[in-house]
Formats: sequence, C-alpha cells, structure tokens
Amino acid sequence: MSQAVADRAESAVAYLKDKVEGIPTAAVVLGSGVSVLEGLVDSESFPFLDVFGISPSVHGHSGNVTVGRLSDAADAPLVAVFRGRFHLYEGHDWSVVTLAARVVALWGVKKLLLTNAAGGLNKDYHVGDLMVLTGYRDHLSPELAQTGLLAAIAKPTTKCSNALSEELLKVGEQLAKEDKEFRPLRQGTYCALGGPNYETMAEIEMLRRLKGDAVGMSTVPEMLAVEGTGTMAAAVSVITNVWRDDEPMGGHEEVLEASKMASKRLDQLFRKVLVSD
Ligand code: HPA
Repeated sequence: MSQAVADRAESAVAYLKDKVEGIPTAAVVLGSGVSVLEGLVDSESFPFLDVFGISPSVHGHSGNVTVGRLSDAADAPLVAVFRGRFHLYEGHDWSVVTLAARVVALWGVKKLLLTNAAGGLNKDYHVGDLMVLTGYRDHLSPELAQTGLLAAIAKPTTKCSNALSEELLKVGEQLAKEDKEFRPLRQGTYCALGGPNYETMAEIEMLRRLKGDAVGMSTVPEMLAVEGTGTMAAAVSVITNVWRDDEPMGGHEEVLEASKMASKRLDQLFRKVLVSD
C-alpha cells in the first residue's frame, strides 16, 4: 500500500481520536438509503471531507461520521455511524473503498456492522427483507484483473459466519417472536459485483447457479479489509428489489423507499445487539 494511502487512514484515526473521547464499542456503515441509529445521545458529526479528505458522490449518501451514545443509560455504548461509503464505480480505488473499514480497525473498534442495499436473487425473498450475510462472493476486487472472471466464478463461496453474525440472527429470532411486525431475518450469500449498472438477466442467472441469495456493489471490500485485525465484521443486506418477473424493478427512488421501511426493523435489531454484552 502506498505511503499516501496509509497516511490517509492514519490521519483519519488521528482526527477522530482528537475529536472523540474514548473508543467506540462498535461502528456501523450505512448503505444506500439505510437509516438507523438516529438520535444518538451527546453525538457529534464529522463530514467525510474533514475525516478522510474526500467525499462520496452517490445520491442518498450524505457522507459523515456520527459518534454518540446509543441511549441516555449510564452504561450505553459509544457507537460510530458512517453514513455513506465510497464505491469502485465512482472511480475510487480499492484503498479508498476500504478506507472507513481500515480506519475502524486502526481506531481499535472491535465490532463493525456493515449494511447495504441489495437485489434479491433468492426467489423466496421479498422487497424489504433483511438478510444476514453467512457467505459472500467477490466478483469485484481488482485482483480479478489478474486472475480473470472465470477464476472468480470457479472460486467457492467464502463463509463469513462469526460470533457477531450469529448474535444478529439470535436477536432477530427473538424479535420475530416478540413482535409480529418484525419479519424473520434471512441468511444467505451476498455477491459483490462492480456495477454501476444493475445486472443483466444472464448475470442474475449465473449468480443463482452459484447459489447467491443477494447481489450488490459493496461490503465485500470492507469485510476483506478487517480480516486478520482485531475487528469483527458482520453484514446485513436490505433487499430493495427482487429479480423476478412477478415483481417489477423500481428505480433509485424505490430503492430508497424500500430501504426506509426495512430500516425501522434494522434499527431495532442493531440497538438490541449493541446493548447485549
Ligand atoms: N443489484 C446490484 N446492486 C443493488 C441491487 C441490485 O439488484 N439492488 C440494490 N443494490
């Protein structure tokens, strides 16, 4: 990694350490239109431009980090919410796409909850479902330029279950029992493609044959970036559209609307997981 890029992560951590007292218990990265953990207590927000020296450019991403306590309870954990992210399709390179995750690890935050908007490949899925990632497929990393697309297709799915994803599933099961409005969580394999266009039907067919359950354009770089650090990552996809003939595809506005509905359930889930230890 170039010196300049290492320095960018280091200077972001130095900035946050200077502004924030204590190290957050958890960090959350919000995908397109996903809105959770609003109203943190004693919170402060920092624009991405000030923290990272750059801003994302996608509609629906405001690009800031908010740090605050989960509630006004004396023992409420300190959390950092990253609103917005950098994508390869915006022209950012891998080091920028992984910047927030590397900053989280370098800052010493032990838990990273990643969220994304994704298309449902699994024919049982509905718009607004939440899927905890138990596996992922990398069809976007720059390494593919060397190994080729066929190698990516031939590669087995990476399993990504850990204590944090299991906790999400366990708490999700409790919530579904207690609250009729809380749809049971899905668990499945997320396929990361480069975008920015949505997939062709041929690509959807291929991803289904590879046993993918959802498809999106993010998250996998961040999972890879914290591997081998002291930070444990788990991810949840908000299914904003389903690839089926009986449910027509919406545009970006519909994606944002579906994310908003599911965000309420995701908020319940995250708040309960974050206070459960
Ligand atoms: N494909 C890729 N990314 C997405 C989708 C999709 O169908 N839906 C939301 N983000």
